[in-house]
Amino acid sequence: MNDKWNSKVGFVMAAIGSAVGLGNLWRFPYVAASHGGGAFLLPYFFAIITAGIPILMLEYTIGKTYRGGAPAAFARINKKFEWLGWVQVMISFIIFVYYLAIVVWTLSYCVFSVNQAWGNDPQGFFVKFLGVTDSAHNLGGIQTNLLIPFIIVWVIAAFAMYRGISKGVEQICRIGLPVLLVLTVILVVRGVTLPNASAGLEYMFKPQWHMLKNPNVWVAAYGQIFFSLSIAFGIMISYSSYLPKEEDVVNTAFITATANHGFEIFAGIGVFSILGFMAGSQGVPVEKVASQGVGLAFMVFPQAISELPAMKGLIGVCFFGALFVAGITSLISISQVVVTGIEGKFSFKSHKQATTIVLIPALVVSLLFVTGAGLNILDIMDAFVNNVGLAFSGLLELFLLMWLSKPEKFRMLANEYSNFSVGKWWTYSLKIITLALLGVMAVLNTVQYITKGYGEYKQIDINIFGWGALVVIIVFAIIFTTRKGRDGYDTLEGIEELVFEEA
Ligand code: ALA
Repeated sequence: MNDKWNSKVGFVMAAIGSAVGLGNLWRFPYVAASHGGGAFLLPYFFAIITAGIPILMLEYTIGKTYRGGAPAAFARINKKFEWLGWVQVMISFIIFVYYLAIVVWTLSYCVFSVNQAWGNDPQGFFVKFLGVTDSAHNLGGIQTNLLIPFIIVWVIAAFAMYRGISKGVEQICRIGLPVLLVLTVILVVRGVTLPNASAGLEYMFKPQWHMLKNPNVWVAAYGQIFFSLSIAFGIMISYSSYLPKEEDVVNTAFITATANHGFEIFAGIGVFSILGFMAGSQGVPVEKVASQGVGLAFMVFPQAISELPAMKGLIGVCFFGALFVAGITSLISISQVVVTGIEGKFSFKSHKQATTIVLIPALVVSLLFVTGAGLNILDIMDAFVNNVGLAFSGLLELFLLMWLSKPEKFRMLANEYSNFSVGKWWTYSLKIITLALLGVMAVLNTVQYITKGYGEYKQIDINIFGWGALVVIIVFAIIFTTRKGRDGYDTLEGIEELVFEEA
């Protein structure tokens, strides 16, 4: 592993680029809206403090100390832990292939926004555009209208993968982040100046104390935090493995989390203002327009854009452009988990060769999501991989590190080069509160999927794409763990210390 960040700023920008993604602009508004709007914010804030920031700190500490992708880093902590790294690699592989499809749609919608190609039926347009078939196992062929954006997104992802951390990922994030900020500012300014924006904002911010008694709201809050902060994917472990050991991870975790959630709330203000405006112009309550689940971005938002009094094209391009940029910088971070993981354990002639070995299967599997079944497959996989896969990944990570290792050692490593130290609250929070809540969440979600299935989907589709995806994750994790790696991959011997060029 010869790559490294050019500077601390480069690392922080890439970490923020990873965290700020579709999760902030597409997932957060609909998850918050479907859990009572303002009712969601308090549990979410609690989840940020008890799980988000502490786990982020833990992952940065592990990455920079053990200097490898997730499998190598876990193996260097304890040889018996390597499998968890491969579980995270596989989770990332699956999230990568379907996340890419959503980025493809956002790119198409940037173009559609210019003249509001969806006409007066955005819902029907979306379904037709994706050629949605009647079930997830009826593929219905590749949608040729998706091929050009698909190729563009793949070219950007492949560029980042081949060029690596300093020449690929860091460059894209340095350009992407400022662009994202400008697009979002335009969106928010337009949003809050619309008539009836206040109804949307009231819905987003007004607490509903009685909802705190509802366990689903807490489960959703913890689920969102993992996706939003890119934790338990192995992303932050991989990214921080390219950091010098002397780096201050405590303050960096606070910076990343603050930027991510600050952005989430800021963008949420724009999104909910526009939803408030739309609800007002249709004479319906905000919860009615906001409760569209995954369709919020591609069905409800286009409708809202069409109803704007002016600058429809500009606002549409800003919204979908922001989704696109946020999505790309996160997508490339997800790909790095797989590349860094594989490259860490096995011997390759070059980084290019390792990348090609990851890229080819990813390209083939991602084609599934540009077929007519793509939307349905994606919906099922996203639910299972996030709500069960990521939840268990986080749970097991905490169990192995906080119960089967010496948690105080990680606290000491986190504090070693930090300007201000984290206290014992960190260990207790991770070891008890976060672990317990994650356990409840993982079990509740699993039981719910076993007993009630998911959505309106047929059991066969749930078995293939939901449970099947989880089985694929486990099987490949076992295969990769049990294959012999290059000598010494699971030790720190022979690994050079990193320093920033500018240091
Ligand atoms: N953290 C990334 C997102 O929010 C995965 O989309």
